[in-house]
Amino acid sequence: MDISTRLQLNNGTKIPVLGLGTWKIDDGDAEKVVLDALGIGYRHIDTAKIYGNEKGIGKAIKKSGVPRKELFITTKLWNDDHDDIIGACEESLKKLQLDYVDLYLMHSPTPVRNESWKTMQQLVKNGKAKTVGVSNFTIRHLNELLSKSKFVPAVNQVEFSTYLYQKELLEFCKSKGIQIEAYSPLTRGRKLNDSKLIMIADKYNKSPAQVLIRWVIQHAMVVIPKSKSRERLEENMDVFDFNISQEDMKKLDGFNENLRVTWDPEGIE
Ligand SMILES: NC(=O)c1ccc[n+]([C@@H]2O[C@H](COP(=O)([O-])OP(=O)(O)OC[C@H]3O[C@@H](n4cnc5c(N)ncnc54)[C@H](OP(=O)(O)O)[C@@H]3O)[C@@H](O)[C@H]2O)c1
Repeated sequence: MDISTRLQLNNGTKIPVLGLGTWKIDDGDAEKVVLDALGIGYRHIDTAKIYGNEKGIGKAIKKSGVPRKELFITTKLWNDDHDDIIGACEESLKKLQLDYVDLYLMHSPTPVRNESWKTMQQLVKNGKAKTVGVSNFTIRHLNELLSKSKFVPAVNQVEFSTYLYQKELLEFCKSKGIQIEAYSPLTRGRKLNDSKLIMIADKYNKSPAQVLIRWVIQHAMVVIPKSKSRERLEENMDVFDFNISQEDMKKLDGFNENLRVTWDPEGIE
């Protein structure tokens, strides 16, 4: 397993298990950060219209010279754009200077989600997206969607970390063939000084961040840590030369404290 390792999604598309998150990287910085990331081996970039950095990322992709088919680019439909989903995707593609994205996600389960999901399937048919999926969907939102559509999302991108171990959601998604992508896997830095995490990290001669990333991968999820720093981009991809033992995985599972560093989508009816 290494940075080029991919997991197969339910439509046959393969997604690199580790990608770069880009929230809070503004458009001015995005070109440099993404060029750095592509230069050291990242091939999977996660963005969204609302991050405001698609243009910078597009420039980096172009400059990098990495063949398009080696890349896996995700962007997302913002909540205000559900009345023109095709137009919103085309707008993102224009900024990214791409003909298609590898994954287009509905950013949140808005009230019109089930209708919108039907339109999102058109994006696959018309070649604008290789795959479509959802984000911030709970089991309730997914059950409702699946009761209305035979078309199963390939991915559900949700907040997921050692400190927010959503076991039930993970098992539910597995049973339906939906790949979980873990966002905020580093708890946005909040738990990196937790002494019990540091103890495990020291044992493997790895950093706390590397243990949190590896924990996600060993649970067979995709992980998208964000960093602007070249040093930390390298650190975050250096997670393929060690294996957390079953015993330590159990210990880490037990660190769960239902900690959300973003928001709880359960509140969306
Ligand atoms: N679908 C959604 O609704 C949604 C919501 C939130 C996030 N996401 C996606 O998921 C990605 C990741 O989540 P996130 O950005 O919220 O949080 P995260 O990846 O858990 O944490 C990022 C923070 O950790 C720091 N950091 C990164 N690597 C580190 C390391 N090795 N050691 C110490 N600190 C480190 C970063 O600072 P530096 O940059 O200074 O290194 C940044 O402050 C986002 O960027 C975005 O692409 C999606």
